[in-house]
Amino acid sequence: MNNIIFNELESTNTYLKNHYRQYNDGDAVVALKQTSGRGRFDRVWESNEDLTFSMLFINNKALHHMIAPLAVCYALEEFGYSPMIKWPNDVYLNDKKVSGVLIENICYKSNVYSIIGIGVNTSYKSNYSYVGLSRMSLLEVVEDKYQILLNYDDKELYKSYRLYSNTLNKEITYNGEKYVIIDYAYSGEIIIENKNRILKVAANEIDIKSCLIY
Ligand code: BTN
Repeated sequence: MNNIIFNELESTNTYLKNHYRQYNDGDAVVALKQTSGRGRFDRVWESNEDLTFSMLFINNKALHHMIAPLAVCYALEEFGYSPMIKWPNDVYLNDKKVSGVLIENICYKSNVYSIIGIGVNTSYKSNYSYVGLSRMSLLEVVEDKYQILLNYDDKELYKSYRLYSNTLNKEITYNGEKYVIIDYAYSGEIIIENKNRILKVAANEIDIKSCLIY
């Protein structure tokens, strides 16, 4: 992967969304400071001395929604941590979020440009976990793991994703009813079940954090 490093960007995802035609498949845009980082559900992603980068993949149909959090988990494990994935692609350490992923796809002239934005807290952030690691060392390992995971077949990926998941078999409330998360679909949805029905729910339809029953 080719890293393009900026001292400051509004958001690496926004930047790549506006400049993707200048870059090649596998390039990564890294910001040492992000002034307007974005999260899922239009949330703000605040960062200080954190790892913030976005990778560009062109016409690459890999299951990036599983690969991205797994790459972070595999990398953090190398540094001695024990991470878990909260569906769809948050990474947690000791019950607090340490990393988030924002995936955005653009279609242009029959090509699909996938922007995979990853933020890992490498400096203190209240209510979050953080790892006091060098950003560039962590980036290198996450990228290595990403490459390895790109070579997994979907079945292997799914198996690994399930293994790291901390949401399987958990109870949630969805549309006023209680369900259990029984599985994940390869395409990224959760599969939930109660005595009345089984549903497949997409990541943009539900904010799992506020629905989980602890
Ligand atoms: C989330 O947890 O809601 C997703 C957070 C994703 C944050 C990363 S930081 C690098 C990239 N640029 C952004 O503006 N967002 C992603």
